Amino acid sequence: MKVDGRQMRPIWLDEISQTVKVIDQRQLPHRLVIAELTTVDKVITAIQDMYVRGAPLIGATGAYGVYVAALNTRVSSNDEAFFLKECDRIKSVRPTAVNLAWAVDTVLAEVSQNETLADKTNTAKAAAARIAELEAENCRQIGVAGLELVKAVSEAKNGDTVHILTHCNAGWLACVEYGTATAPIYAAFEKGIDVHVWVDETRPLNQGARLTAWELGKHGIKHTIVTDNAGGHLMQHGMVDMVIVGTDRTTRTGDVANKIGTYLKALAARDNDIPFYVALPSSTFDWQAFDGLKDIPIEERDPNEVRYVQGDDAGSLRKVLISPPDSSAANPAFDVTPANLVTGLITERGVCRADENDILRLFPEHP
Ligand code: MRU
Repeated sequence: MKVDGRQMRPIWLDEISQTVKVIDQRQLPHRLVIAELTTVDKVITAIQDMYVRGAPLIGATGAYGVYVAALNTRVSSNDEAFFLKECDRIKSVRPTAVNLAWAVDTVLAEVSQNETLADKTNTAKAAAARIAELEAENCRQIGVAGLELVKAVSEAKNGDTVHILTHCNAGWLACVEYGTATAPIYAAFEKGIDVHVWVDETRPLNQGARLTAWELGKHGIKHTIVTDNAGGHLMQHGMVDMVIVGTDRTTRTGDVANKIGTYLKALAARDNDIPFYVALPSSTFDWQAFDGLKDIPIEERDPNEVRYVQGDDAGSLRKVLISPPDSSAANPAFDVTPANLVTGLITERGVCRADENDILRLFPEHP
């Protein structure tokens, strides 16, 4: 997508240095800083500390991480064991987004066909690039499918503004290109449909207020940041036409794990008869998971993310303590919205109901 006229992705391979580069999203919207991931430790820190975040981008970073692991493996009798251990370290950094393990395993399956370290390195580089392109194309298709839903609401309102609420950042910053939840919004905007987005701030790390607002603003899309608790009120007063969110892992039965607070939005949407859609590429389905509450691991993050807030203070990024210094805090990073609260899943193969039969109608290769 374009940032001030310049084509950008949140991850890319530098053609000249052949190094993996990412936007350091911790510093947005205040400054656009690029980080270089030259070692496995740097890849792990980038995922753990959320320079990169969002399920498809975590996957793409993991895929490029296999390339970085191969680059940093020395030829020796032990090189295969060392390389695989490094890939395992990458795979386990963030547990909820299933894309990470999927992407690392996909690259490793291709690499396992090679004998020499040089071949493994080249194969990993090519496979990671393919995964990034695949996620970009999947998100484009999600936009094509989701556009029809936004168009239908716009027509029902005789062209009046369509108000869409979203939670966290499921935009291009989270996904290589277009985003998942934002892809239908960008597609609708391109078609001239009048859209306005309610952006949940998304405590504790404010991915909505910092990242979704930044993306939408750069694209010229009308948006308003609201506190995480405002959604129910807006819905009760007819100010939300539809909710679209992303997901980090969705079971084959349609239960959806996404950023903490998503479940409460789904409850409020149901109580107010507002459609609640989840947009995802097929890499975010966990085909082995049947029950979201039992089968999806929920990441617990550092409680200090709750106790402190980061912002820009006259050009410097500062963290300030907002709680009593000795109060404890808990930080579950995701929650599960049961399938029965989900109106539909928007995938690269079209829209389906959040139930196993309809999901398998689109993805019959996972019986
Ligand atoms: O903790 P984060 O910022 O990685 O959480 C991201 C989300 O919850 C997104 O909604 C999800 O990954 C979908 S991204 C298209």
